[in-house]
Amino acid sequence: MTLHLAQTLAWKQSLAATTAAAAAELAMLDDLQGNILKGHGRPHTSNLLVTFDAGRAAQARRFLASVGHDVTTALDQLTGAEAHRLSGIDAGTFVTVLLSAAGYEALGRSDACPTNAAFKAGMAARDLNDPPVAEWDESFVGLHAMILVATSDAAWRDSASAAIMARIAATGGAVRLAGRLDGNAMFNADGRGIEHFGYVDGRSQPLPLKEDVDHEASHAGTRLWDPAIFLDQLLVPCPGGRLAVSHGSYFVIRKLEQDVRAFKAREIELAQALDAEAVEDPTHEPVGERAGASVVGRFENGTPVTLDRREAPLASRSDDAVRNDFDYRDDKAGLRCPFAAHIRKANPRSDVTGSKSHLMARRGIPYGQRKDDANDDAPADKAAGGVGLIFMAYQADIVNQFEFTQNKWVDNRQFARPLVIGGPETGIDPVIGQLPSPAPNPPAAGQLYPLEWDRRLSGTPFDFSGFVTMRGGEYLFAPSISFLKSLS
Ligand code: HEM
Repeated sequence: MTLHLAQTLAWKQSLAATTAAAAAELAMLDDLQGNILKGHGRPHTSNLLVTFDAGRAAQARRFLASVGHDVTTALDQLTGAEAHRLSGIDAGTFVTVLLSAAGYEALGRSDACPTNAAFKAGMAARDLNDPPVAEWDESFVGLHAMILVATSDAAWRDSASAAIMARIAATGGAVRLAGRLDGNAMFNADGRGIEHFGYVDGRSQPLPLKEDVDHEASHAGTRLWDPAIFLDQLLVPCPGGRLAVSHGSYFVIRKLEQDVRAFKAREIELAQALDAEAVEDPTHEPVGERAGASVVGRFENGTPVTLDRREAPLASRSDDAVRNDFDYRDDKAGLRCPFAAHIRKANPRSDVTGSKSHLMARRGIPYGQRKDDANDDAPADKAAGGVGLIFMAYQADIVNQFEFTQNKWVDNRQFARPLVIGGPETGIDPVIGQLPSPAPNPPAAGQLYPLEWDRRLSGTPFDFSGFVTMRGGEYLFAPSISFLKSLS
């Protein structure tokens, strides 16, 4: 059976076909864990963080083999989502299992460990400008595996994760629960998923499934930005897989705490600073919401700031109404969307040839409880800690995708530099940028924001940073299901 990864996958066509290629694709999907090629879509999750006792590796392996039988295959996830779309049937509990390099070793299965250099070293050993490991949540230090449980209902999530925790406890210490981190999706008034700062999140994704690419082309447009990627940007062969078509994917998890109160206050300060700079200009329009939109690259409802100077009303409640068919060809000087804006840093689109090859499949979800309305912008009642984003992303190469994005783009004060010799630095990503510690010399200059949309840049850099703090993370791998089941 030959499987071609240098293409998008048309899974519905494969289901209807009788060719050898279609059979190989379906066999691969049946041995691949879900959530990689398409998000599982459930709003309530539990991330169970676990370690193994290397001295009782056989028992730990048997536990994983039993959980392997509960794991949702990519094929089941896709058919379940289709049944839900057609008839509203709940697709049930979603389960996935991820292992760290240290986890493979503790299980006594280093022979099956994937080979990516960053994965083998682990996140703590990598140069990411992260806080020292001593400041991380302990549950991420020395992590061996993560079991992610997701449901459509919070109570079902609690009972499904309690059942797995009981199975962990029954191993008598061969498997230990180091921590549990729950995620709960948040929605704005239009029913769209948002993150804690109040912005629509998860809209722009690289799409490896042909059905999703076709939907995007016909409903939202793909003339300027084509989100299609080949399977080989997310999948690699699974070293321990039992089938010729066994595949897996590298997975990055980062617990990113958000200081919402300070972020919202800084948005107002940025707007005030720009208005003050333009006070002499009778044509100046108050910056208002455009300050936050310049920081993120989109207004709160998802409207890209490179397309509109004001938040545009959306035509429908469907996600397709949030525009994603754009690039920066008409914004080469960063006069509409600053070069430093989060979405322009993390996906520079037309600014960089081949930028798409660095994209990951992002599967983040907010964590932490809030008492305030996430949709109002009043800083005073906002959470200053205890809430954030569980950033999670799948990819084929951690060095070329997550680390490249974070190191070469997000944290790089020179990127993307306007095409002006000796021009100003663009500054770090104001949402997730991190500077090395101790602070660099000369100190960070901040970012340059548009003073008048599409007309004039501010002459004074404004430092917008420090509102997201990394609290721990790890590089994991989503092995094939046949590998997990074979661990017994
Ligand atoms: C608390 C942390 C974060 C917040 C609040 C955040 C917020 C957002 C928001 C609001 C969007 C726009 C919606 C969309 O296009 O999907 C977005 C897009 C994006 N983010 Fe983040 N994000 C965070 C962390 C990260 C991290 C750690 C990375 C990678 C290193 C990342 C990479 C991206 C990418 C690639 C896009 C899509 C850009 C595009 O294609 O236009 N984000 N993020």
